[in-house]
Amino acid sequence: MGKMTVAVCGATGAVGREMLNTLHQRQFPATEVVAFASSRSAGTTVPYGDKELTVRELKEDSFEGIDLALFSAGGSTSTKFAPYAAKAGCVVVDNSAAWRMDDRCPLVVPEVNPEDLSWHKGIIANPNCSTIQMLVALKPIYDAVGIRRIVVSTYQAVSGTGQKGIAELEKQVRDLFNGRDIEHKAYPYQIAFNILPHIDIFLDNDYTKEEMKMVNETRKMFHDPLIRVTATCARVPVFYGHAESVNIETEKKLTARECRALLSQAPGVRVIDNPHELLYPMPIMCAGQDDTLVGRIRDDESVENGLNLWVCADNIRKGAALNAVQIAEELIRRDLVRVEEKDRATFM
Ligand code: A2P
Repeated sequence: MGKMTVAVCGATGAVGREMLNTLHQRQFPATEVVAFASSRSAGTTVPYGDKELTVRELKEDSFEGIDLALFSAGGSTSTKFAPYAAKAGCVVVDNSAAWRMDDRCPLVVPEVNPEDLSWHKGIIANPNCSTIQMLVALKPIYDAVGIRRIVVSTYQAVSGTGQKGIAELEKQVRDLFNGRDIEHKAYPYQIAFNILPHIDIFLDNDYTKEEMKMVNETRKMFHDPLIRVTATCARVPVFYGHAESVNIETEKKLTARECRALLSQAPGVRVIDNPHELLYPMPIMCAGQDDTLVGRIRDDESVENGLNLWVCADNIRKGAALNAVQIAEELIRRDLVRVEEKDRATFM
């Protein structure tokens, strides 16, 4: 592909800014990068390397001449605008939940199921941040010995809620230290010095939507509708980096030592696991890092074939922006950054 114009939609947000940063850092082969956000930000600027891009208002007709659009502007914006992009022949990589479970859209983590990109019809979904890091760690185990059941508990940073989550934790900490009353808008309760067992909305089965994303997205990406997954997702007062306690039951036996060796060779994974030297992954280590960090690997002695792992990653980077850019890189490698008009799905 000669000339490639790339758009970032939601460029003023926490993930959108990181998408620009990641595109620049990885020297993504774009001849032009365009920044879109809502009318509120039109005319402001966002950094791209040492340049500033002027933000344009995202509209239905914004996609003419754009080859690839990375979206991180919330589900309703993606639902509304991604179909216009696809119709114009622009390939969308969407970070919201809007298209993830749509049968016409592959849901992809390049280390897990890059082959699914081959059947895209114009919109590719980026999974939920918590699912991405869990599956980067579990895929080599799944391939080696099979996984029957996953029990995961998450400890998720406020940056997962976007700029408003970051701002709310910052302000509450400052207000509490200064003896002022605190306010909450982004969350239903105080998040500073607290933990909320509640991310996204509650569903009829009393799980949250975030928890069910982990169940359903895992099944879709592993192409395994029967794999048993259960999740509890919690928001913790950490700015960047999600942590997860992951317990798995495998089909065949894999010891903790074998698991450590297997994951040491796995793409996108860095094993940090030496308890005697107090070495284990933590959110403060993974901010700004591309790798998913895995440690505390132990045999689960309560079942025959069980393992416990502790998994940390930068939720804004591998959990969102980096994964989207890696999908875009993989599309280029496979010559998939275009869809013939006859093969485009009508997403309207
Ligand atoms: P804006 O800054 O103009 O509101 P975050 O997840 O950090 O809150 O960021 C959300 C991103 O989505 C921001 O860039 C925001 O732009 C953008 N956004 C929200 N609503 C729209 C919309 N209707 N059209 C385009 N961009 C939108």
